[in-house]
Amino acid sequence: MKGMILFSVFCIAALSSSADEITSAIAATFSGKTAVITGAASGMGLCTSKTLAQEGCNVFMCDINEKGVKKAADEINALGKGKAYAVVADVRKFADAERSAALAMEKTGRIDLLINYAGGNEARCCKSFKPFYEQPVEVIDWGLDVNLKGAVYFSRACMPYMVKAKSGVIVCIGSVTGFEGDGCGSMYGTAKSGLHNFVVGLAKAGSPYGVRAFCVSPGPVLTRPAMAKMTTSLGFASQPQEIVDYVLYMASPKGRSVTGTTHIIDAGRLALPRSSTSGFLEAEKKK
Ligand SMILES: NC(=O)c1ccc[n+]([C@@H]2O[C@H](COP(=O)([O-])OP(=O)(O)OC[C@H]3O[C@@H](n4cnc5c(N)ncnc54)[C@H](O)[C@@H]3O)[C@@H](O)[C@H]2O)c1
Repeated sequence: MKGMILFSVFCIAALSSSADEITSAIAATFSGKTAVITGAASGMGLCTSKTLAQEGCNVFMCDINEKGVKKAADEINALGKGKAYAVVADVRKFADAERSAALAMEKTGRIDLLINYAGGNEARCCKSFKPFYEQPVEVIDWGLDVNLKGAVYFSRACMPYMVKAKSGVIVCIGSVTGFEGDGCGSMYGTAKSGLHNFVVGLAKAGSPYGVRAFCVSPGPVLTRPAMAKMTTSLGFASQPQEIVDYVLYMASPKGRSVTGTTHIIDAGRLALPRSSTSGFLEAEKKK
């Protein structure tokens, strides 16, 4: 019995250490390369920046949150591996996207990876908890501009360098809400489903030049405690690192066959009967 317990402990330890080794091995394929990451001051954008930089990738951390992104880049640079650049940028402005891409080219001469994380449900981010038909137009614009145009602008700004180099990967971050819809943050779901289609266009334009594009659409992710209350069929919300590992695996050479597709990683959220789910407000209401 004691032997069985010891063996189980050994297996669990071996499994968890090999999981970290796999993450490092995948991130190491970006060593010496350059990633442009939007929404990098927090959540999955920050987690991706740390994961890549600790294996020697240079990361251009683009975010509207000046204080947050500078602090995050300083912390990554203190580790002394890949270099982190804090880029204060509003993804709704094409000039900011162009400036971010130009900076990456000026400093490192390449853009190997673009990940569009900046986004959020407009009802939550603009604190406007109303049904769509009562939403101010500014809230509607925020939802479309940050979640859809932001990714379009950054892709438009970065992709020419990838096409010229005949290599590169663009990742858009969708959401299960892009399939479910949301009665309050209706632009969030609309924009996310737009990204599901956008990567098809990117793949068609990029394939002749070896440029890939795909979308990852998570279910609830614990970048905020409230997400734990959003139901899934497995009964839990994903850890940010799980989503990041999935994104980086497909962005790495291991994912060389992946382009033009949307990949759901949702702990079975979409496997639930639709009538039992009501979007992110379900989590907010249970607070
Ligand atoms: N957390 C979840 O449960 C979940 C689920 C599905 C999809 N997603 C998507 O994943 C992405 C990341 O989510 P997260 O939970 O890590 O987010 P987060 O809220 O932790 O981070 C979003 C970042 O985007 C930045 N941002 C907002 N507006 C911006 C703008 N105009 N210009 C530049 N940066 C801006 C914010 O400052 C913030 O740092 C989002 O697109 C989100 O919609 C999240």
